[in-house]
Amino acid sequence: MTDKPIALISGAAQGIGLACANALADDGYKVILADIKETVMAEAEQLDGAGYICDFSDVDAIKALFDMIEREHGPVSALVNNAGIAMPGDFLSYDLDAFDTVLGVNLRGVFVATQRAAQTMVAKGIEGAIVNMSSINAQVAIPAIPAYCASKGGVMQLTKVAALALAKNNIRVNAVGPGSIDTEMMAGVNANPDAFKTAMSRTPLGRPGGAKEIGDVVAFLCSSKASYVTGETIYVDGGRLGLNYTC
Ligand SMILES: NC(=O)c1ccc[n+]([C@@H]2O[C@H](COP(=O)([O-])OP(=O)(O)OC[C@H]3O[C@@H](n4cnc5c(N)ncnc54)[C@H](O)[C@@H]3O)[C@@H](O)[C@H]2O)c1
Repeated sequence: MTDKPIALISGAAQGIGLACANALADDGYKVILADIKETVMAEAEQLDGAGYICDFSDVDAIKALFDMIEREHGPVSALVNNAGIAMPGDFLSYDLDAFDTVLGVNLRGVFVATQRAAQTMVAKGIEGAIVNMSSINAQVAIPAIPAYCASKGGVMQLTKVAALALAKNNIRVNAVGPGSIDTEMMAGVNANPDAFKTAMSRTPLGRPGGAKEIGDVVAFLCSSKASYVTGETIYVDGGRLGLNYTC
């Protein structure tokens, strides 16, 4: 058990999730890092937090994780639904199993974790915060990642639904929509000079974002500084969504 408020971050072994964990630890949370990757354990130790292996596409595993956290540390007051996968493929031949796999992590997993976290928050009167990792692909689309784009649009709407359902309990639910952020997910673009140039030509700030720049916005949304913000998706994209074209 801990006196600190508890923050659970999914997909926290690396990249944006790990940056969220860092930012929330800086803000005084006991951070619980969960991931399918073993390396999450060492990262959690670095932050004086706790690490758990959990597959966020597995409903029973998510529920068991919350049961364990509540037993070993206490109730979660900030949840960051960050775990996500892309699985590119041609639209005309896109594999349905891949579609279900992506939706299972990126959308169903977010719903299950949000529902489970909120059940305890409501039962214990915790005025918590939930932040979902959406994407600019909730608003604009890339044809090579059909399931990913659909899932992130779903996350934007799920964020609104959860915010409305939980508002009477003073539980705030928001999302962050990153643009091109320099993590393993962007490795394919980074490795291809033409793709990188194209992505940056669509980024007014002219550079990829850093994971910390997402973690800091997530920490803001979890904090009392965002006490009147709920149901929103904040796009952290270097200006991408504002761009029509330049001459
Ligand atoms: N990097 C970007 O440009 C970018 C842009 C928009 C949105 N996002 C979103 O940000 C989030 C984090 O992405 P990232 O860039 O840090 O990618 P990443 O691939 O570096 O990290 C994703 C993490 O999620 C974990 N994960 C994957 N499937 C999981 C599962 N079933 N259960 C638990 N953990 C799982 C991975 O092991 C990994 O540690 C994702 O939701 C992604 O869609 C990223």
